[in-house]
Amino acid sequence: MTDTNHVRTTRVAYDAGAERYAGWVGTKINAAMEDPIDRALLAAFVEMVHDRPGGTVADLGCGPGRVAAFLLSGGIEVVGIDVSTEMLIAASTAHPGLPLAQATLAALPFRDGSLRAAVSWYSIIHTPPDLLDLVWGELRRVVAQTGHLLIAFQAGGGEALHRDEIFGRPASLTSYRHAPTHVEQSLVEAGFRVHARVVRAPALAHETTPQAFVIASLDGPK
Ligand SMILES: C[S@@+](CC[C@H](N)C(=O)[O-])C[C@H]1O[C@@H](n2cnc3c(N)ncnc32)[C@H](O)[C@@H]1O
Repeated sequence: MTDTNHVRTTRVAYDAGAERYAGWVGTKINAAMEDPIDRALLAAFVEMVHDRPGGTVADLGCGPGRVAAFLLSGGIEVVGIDVSTEMLIAASTAHPGLPLAQATLAALPFRDGSLRAAVSWYSIIHTPPDLLDLVWGELRRVVAQTGHLLIAFQAGGGEALHRDEIFGRPASLTSYRHAPTHVEQSLVEAGFRVHARVVRAPALAHETTPQAFVIASLDGPK
């Protein structure tokens, strides 16, 4: 497993906070954590996946498996991927039988072109902006030519926010507020076409910054 410094610190932090994180965010997509726009985008993504050839969709940085469960309930075959052992335990406890694997975003355990689609729901937020190209390169390798990506993240200007605790547990965790234009441009440089970019104002109690969503694929519009 590729384990660069930011990946190692992210894994250690989420291992320490997994149980409390899952208690806070829940184990399903829900109205306290996802605005109606966010849920509409997830529902649109399910429809887009059904419009393309079959196979497995990866929930990358799945945490407690909320997006994986959402996709599964939409009749989609899924696998959850996370670097944190404790998050994977939280996901399997909440969703028994959900296929899961431990891996990092930049080194995924899939054959070339084998994924039907992929979602990164707030999991690129711990990858420094200048390393996103490694994630996009890996997604370009594993996602089918017909497959879509859905990426969600807190938007900003690429700034780093460091914290030394997670849910009351000591931890070293850096989050990045990626610039939507940088995400979009770096996806294009990696060979993706961007179909949609949505940036909405903070609307939920825990949000302090705009939330961004990008849908991209390797081929053109349907
Ligand atoms: C903010 S949580 C989001 C979890 C989940 N997607 C959700 O919305 O509930 C970020 C998750 O991504 C995982 N993660 C962060 N960076 C990762 C990386 N480079 N490779 C694999 N997993 C990563 C963390 O372990 C954590 O479970």
